[in-house]
Amino acid sequence: MTSSPLPSYFDQANKAANFLREKLGALMPRIGIVLGSGLGAVADAVSSPVFVAYGAIPHFPQSTVEGHSGRIVAGLLGGVPVIVMQGRVHYYEGYTPQQVTFPMRVLGRLGIESVILTNAAGGINSNYQIGQLVLLADHINLLGFNPLVGPNEPRFGEVPGSGLRFFDMTEAYSVQLRGLAQEAARTISESGGEALHEGVYLATSGPSFETPAEIRAFRALGADLVGMSTVPETIVARHMGMRVLGISCVTNLAAGISATQLSHEEVFEAGSRVQHKLARLFERLVPAIAATQMETAS
Ligand code: HPA
Repeated sequence: MTSSPLPSYFDQANKAANFLREKLGALMPRIGIVLGSGLGAVADAVSSPVFVAYGAIPHFPQSTVEGHSGRIVAGLLGGVPVIVMQGRVHYYEGYTPQQVTFPMRVLGRLGIESVILTNAAGGINSNYQIGQLVLLADHINLLGFNPLVGPNEPRFGEVPGSGLRFFDMTEAYSVQLRGLAQEAARTISESGGEALHEGVYLATSGPSFETPAEIRAFRALGADLVGMSTVPETIVARHMGMRVLGISCVTNLAAGISATQLSHEEVFEAGSRVQHKLARLFERLVPAIAATQMETAS
């Protein structure tokens, strides 16, 4: 007897997407949200939720980090179908770049057109305060890898112009989605009716936090925020032609900027405090994004 070969990465993503499609039934979301450290309770704002544990989804990686509970919450947010990933896996947990970005592949195969990637980040820009939400204007990849290294799989590119070996990253974070987020922020009292800052996010592998010398170097490179996630997901989402909105929650000032030492507890607690603000923002923002998708579909 011969054993059957392992399914290809593409087939694995399809299998996971088909599994989820069956679980979600008539919902058919076109907007995906990934919740970062300490931000998981934003999923409480989802009405009529369907829960799917990552462990139940074929080939899906499971998070080992406290504060990333590891399940899908699908339902309505602001009356619009969404699929929320409550928790993500990171490179520092020992997962391969392909495993880290597998959920993004699955969202793409599920028909998601826009993803909102949230994260906890250290603030490098001295204008930032703890608890602030910052929109990602761009990123710097210092993770030491790109998740697309390896054979290109053009079948991941269903949208015209996607699935390419080489592709443009001039507008990794959608200008249109940032505009909608700014409009939404101005209408919610939790942000004092003020516009959000926009900044450059630099990704390191972690898991150790940075040294003060590294933070000085990152500032000189043009970074406003530092964190250990999001960038691989953005690259893969763009490869599949999805629009990306990145939102950092400044959970701490980066190393050496304040006299205090950094801890995961501090990051987690600060994240927990802004969840309410983020949930209110999403209730406005998600319908606004959905309206633009209906425009493009018609
Ligand atoms: N550095 C890296 N990642 C982080 C930080 C930080 O200061 N805060 C939250 N995630």
